Amino acid sequence: MKTLSDQAIGTAHGKIILIGEHSVVYNKPAIALPFPAAHVEVTIESILGDSEIHSNYYEGPLSSAPVSLENLTKTIEAICLDLGYALSGMRIAISSLIPSERGMGSSAAVASALVRALFNFFEQPLAYEQLLHYIGISEKIAHGNPSGLDARVTSGNQPLFYTKSKTPEPFDFHLTGYLIAADTGLKGQTREAVQDVASLLKKSKRKTRFLLDSLGKLTVQARVAIEQDDIADLGRILTKAHHHLADLTVSNDKLDQLVKTAIEHGALGAKLTGSGRGGCMIALTKTFGQAKHIANELMKNGAVETWIHSLGADTNE
Ligand code: MEV
Repeated sequence: MKTLSDQAIGTAHGKIILIGEHSVVYNKPAIALPFPAAHVEVTIESILGDSEIHSNYYEGPLSSAPVSLENLTKTIEAICLDLGYALSGMRIAISSLIPSERGMGSSAAVASALVRALFNFFEQPLAYEQLLHYIGISEKIAHGNPSGLDARVTSGNQPLFYTKSKTPEPFDFHLTGYLIAADTGLKGQTREAVQDVASLLKKSKRKTRFLLDSLGKLTVQARVAIEQDDIADLGRILTKAHHHLADLTVSNDKLDQLVKTAIEHGALGAKLTGSGRGGCMIALTKTFGQAKHIANELMKNGAVETWIHSLGADTNE
């Protein structure tokens, strides 16, 4: 009989969508970055009897896990079935530093770490396409109609220029500046926001098409600004994208307020990131000192957490 590993680990990390959320669902390009500051680890240990899940949201038998974890339980079931192993005998512990439902790719990252941990536990090789397939099972349950961007960026280490129907293009991203991410403290609503954009497209076809097309064009312009190391232009592009996203109804008062605060305090640009309606926003600055100042102002104006991320080339304060 095959002896399974006593303990197996799988990891993944969060993501930040720089530009192109929502329009990426409609086959427009998006740019996203891995966000290693937000990390997730899944550990699986052999136990006797029924499998268990241990997470911040639920502790108990796998068979009694709540519907909110169905994306994970169905993924576990699919893998066990495909690999020919019983569902029992596993203690699955999920430890995530990614705030959940905040547009940082928490659901895709947890799924990615889980799939990796299961394949390690069963001592099976895991091809990248297989990893994406199983994250896709989880994301379809969690979000309905995922573009696949979160799955790729949370499980890879490179910034991506991503269009759903094309081979993703990793690209070297060295921009002289800093990105601040700020959490509104409000849960985003990916499923609802994605569905509402789809309804808007049916109701106001011309206007919605225009907004989606413009977001696609802004993403291409953002890529040029990055390649030219022009963070001021990138900032302007991001702010325009925020207004388009607001017109698509996926912003909310707190996101708008934090975007305004960032710009009033000298950010080169700011926008919501991820599905919106809560979750996180991002802002750009040239120097670390400006980034610290804006992060403080965002905290004073209602953000519950901020992160500062160097975009590659460090500058003097
Ligand atoms: C969610 O992180 C990003 C969306 O564009 C949905 C998707 O790409 O699946 C809103």
